[in-house]
Amino acid sequence: MKELKILAVVVFFTLVIYWGVEPFAHSQMHKHVEGDHFAYSDLPELTKTGDAANGQSLVMGAGACLGCHAMESQGMSAPMDASMAAASYGVNPPDLSNIGALYDEKFLAALIKNPAHALNVEHKFDQASGNMHPMTQFFGAGGDIDQEVADMVAYFKSIAPQEITPKTAFDNACGRCHAMRYDNYTQLGDTPSFDGEKEALAHKIKVLEYQDHLKAYMGKLPPDLSMIIRARGGHFLETFVENPQTQLPGTSMPRVGLTKAGYEKVEEYLTEIGDPSKSKREALGPWVIGFFVIFTLLAFLWKRSQWRDLH
Ligand code: HEC
Ligand code: HEC
Repeated sequence: MKELKILAVVVFFTLVIYWGVEPFAHSQMHKHVEGDHFAYSDLPELTKTGDAANGQSLVMGAGACLGCHAMESQGMSAPMDASMAAASYGVNPPDLSNIGALYDEKFLAALIKNPAHALNVEHKFDQASGNMHPMTQFFGAGGDIDQEVADMVAYFKSIAPQEITPKTAFDNACGRCHAMRYDNYTQLGDTPSFDGEKEALAHKIKVLEYQDHLKAYMGKLPPDLSMIIRARGGHFLETFVENPQTQLPGTSMPRVGLTKAGYEKVEEYLTEIGDPSKSKREALGPWVIGFFVIFTLLAFLWKRSQWRDLH
């Protein structure tokens, strides 16, 4: 009976510390941001049903998207290579093949109509003073602009693949700005293997040049994200990517506009690279608990057998 009381006291104080003290200390050190579950409630709902065929002609024609972006899945290469694009725009515009699967449709529509607004970087780009966002705004092709934008979104959704790998999601949404050193990935993509030092250096210089343009565009070089999942944790990352302004007011990192599923792919990749033993660790948990349960039982039985004759 006495043992049970002692156990109850130990369990009680352990739980108080686990649920009370630690989260309290944590909340004092980090501002807690409530996410919006990637709902983007500040952006208007799509009111029109899109026509993908018309969307295709707009994307290829009046929308001018392919003047800056590649769409490799449809056989459209980038109009210029990543270095040239960074020299022109500050950053390499992402391939559009997968956007219909990764980005929220309301966000895409808002982006096409007004990039700086959708991306939440209006504090940086101000049309009145002539400081335009490098992605030009679509002013319509002569018809109802909301219909035209809905058509383009419908087209992107119609060509988007069913399955996207975690790495492709990262490459599309973050890779133009962030490197992943532990995966040999830079803003120019996977680093190839080189025959000689000269080739390797030439590539390195291209990366550095890209990063210089990016630095000038963003105000600073976006950090390498190899270890970010461990440094920052899941909740911070999720709410930060959903809306960077909530935790870094005034930051130049755009709101990327991912759907929840799209974000989860990105997080999967960040975990794969930054915390590769996570799944092993988690699989070990039940075994450790099982061990303690059995050990406790054996210890209890042993104690009983030792004390039986002494009472
Ligand atoms: C004048 C060049 C230009 C044109 C035209 C253009 N874009 Fe872009 N786009 C960019 C640049 C540059 C970026 C990257 C901006 C950044 O990361 O700050 C971008 C980014 C994007 C993104 C990624 C946004 C995100 O949330 O990460 C999407 C999606 C996109 N563009 C779609 C389109 C579509 C659809 C069209 C046609 C209606 C289009 N773009 C036309 C230059 C252009
Ligand atoms: C157009 C460029 C751009 C894109 C795209 C972009 N970021 Fe960033 N990111 C930045 C910049 C710039 C900073 C530095 C922000 C600052 O310090 O103000 C940053 C900072 C961060 C940080 C560090 C925050 C901190 O407090 O240390 C994280 C985490 C991050 N980005 C994650 C992502 C993820 C994940 C994606 C893709 C879903 C992404 N970013 C897409 C430009 C970008």
